[in-house]
Amino acid sequence: ISSNQINQEGHLTIGGVDTIELAQEFGTPLVVYDVAQIRSQIRAFKKVFEEEKVKYAVSYASKAFSAVAMYQICEQEGAHTDVVSAGELATAIRANYPMNFVSFHGNNKSAAELEMAVDHHVGKIILDNFYEIELLSQILEEKDSQINVMLRITPGISAHTHEYDQTGQIDSKFGFDLESGQADQALQEVLANPRMNVLGLHAHIGSQIFELNGFQMAAQKLVEVAAHWRDQFGYTSQVINVGGGFGIKYTEQDQPLKPEEFVRAIIKEIKNSCEKVDLPVPEIDIEPGRSIVGPAGYNLYKVGSQKTVPGLLSYITVDGGMGDNIRPALYQAEYETVSANDPQKEITQEVRIAGKYCESGDILAQNQALPDVKPGDILAMLDTGAYGYSMASNYNRNARPAVVFVENGQAKEVIRRESLADLIHLDESYVD
Ligand code: LLP
Repeated sequence: ISSNQINQEGHLTIGGVDTIELAQEFGTPLVVYDVAQIRSQIRAFKKVFEEEKVKYAVSYASKAFSAVAMYQICEQEGAHTDVVSAGELATAIRANYPMNFVSFHGNNKSAAELEMAVDHHVGKIILDNFYEIELLSQILEEKDSQINVMLRITPGISAHTHEYDQTGQIDSKFGFDLESGQADQALQEVLANPRMNVLGLHAHIGSQIFELNGFQMAAQKLVEVAAHWRDQFGYTSQVINVGGGFGIKYTEQDQPLKPEEFVRAIIKEIKNSCEKVDLPVPEIDIEPGRSIVGPAGYNLYKVGSQKTVPGLLSYITVDGGMGDNIRPALYQAEYETVSANDPQKEITQEVRIAGKYCESGDILAQNQALPDVKPGDILAMLDTGAYGYSMASNYNRNARPAVVFVENGQAKEVIRRESLADLIHLDESYVD
């Protein structure tokens, strides 16, 4: 957090709004987004493309945080967006988001999802496998319709990140295999289908990646495949999509490049590679999720019980946990947490921050330096904006938190807190 985020009361502010007041008004746990920061990250990505003078699309990977309000911000900022389910698409539709800016992703899109995508004329379907080509061609036939497609290839690159966050390695479940000729076969099938307009190719190597090298290798590989397709099939790709995955700084140990600097290096790599094989530089698309919303998000929790195990450790328990942020439990993800009441207060303890869920693994932070805190104080966990709320669950039948957008000193609830009635509204009685 920066020093201008502390107000006269000494409280943490976000977007000019006092977090203690946010907690009082909207309750806790609470997810808060700094909208200005979301906008500035999208603009920073776009600026790089403008400076490099290439055609582009910045396509927000909405799995990181999908909400009507978020698609509205994307539209305002001219960001495209990618969706991976009927649910995300329905949310974008509800937001009145321009469908020609939507890419539909996924390694097992259902017939119903593909139909929905065709009916709403999404901008692109990113084809992942042969079964999908078959399903989609049937649907297009039935509906006497056409659609733009891209082919997702498996570039055979193992990104240095958590195993669960790798997607480009040779044995990945995603995309068409290159070495065995599957990608070539997929291209031929799609080229032969007059209802599919193939725009180009796509690869995504993983998420929370710090090393530029993997992106550069993926960029080279994509251009290599594009050149091979030109030579072999006389087909020229208009678009190369390099996916997302630009790592962000969660803790002091993390020292990634700025997200937009990853992108600058990728653009340069594609330009160089294209020059070598005499290909025109295509439109370059990126799909950042985490880097757009991660740093803009904060989770506010209220401190409850505390426990000290003498000589060993102390727990501070908060009113949320793995239901609103599964990442620490699932990926051993680390975050920084501060006292929202007084972020500058003297640090006096190293604590384990525990959630309220009935599970020993429900620990939000293993070892966090904090000042003394008392029940009712508010803690702010930083950089929680990506894959936090979007992976939230109702485990233990806890309600999912509210989500608030703040900007220019104003706060607006954009997802309401679940009520107890919401939690049980799908249940039916079994015994009369
Ligand atoms: N494009 C594709 C095809 C993807 O699969 C993903 C993420 C992205 C773009 C966006 O990647 P990002 O820029 O957000 O890193 N739940 C995990 C992350 C899963 C990422 C899934 N795909 C986590 O919390 O770390």
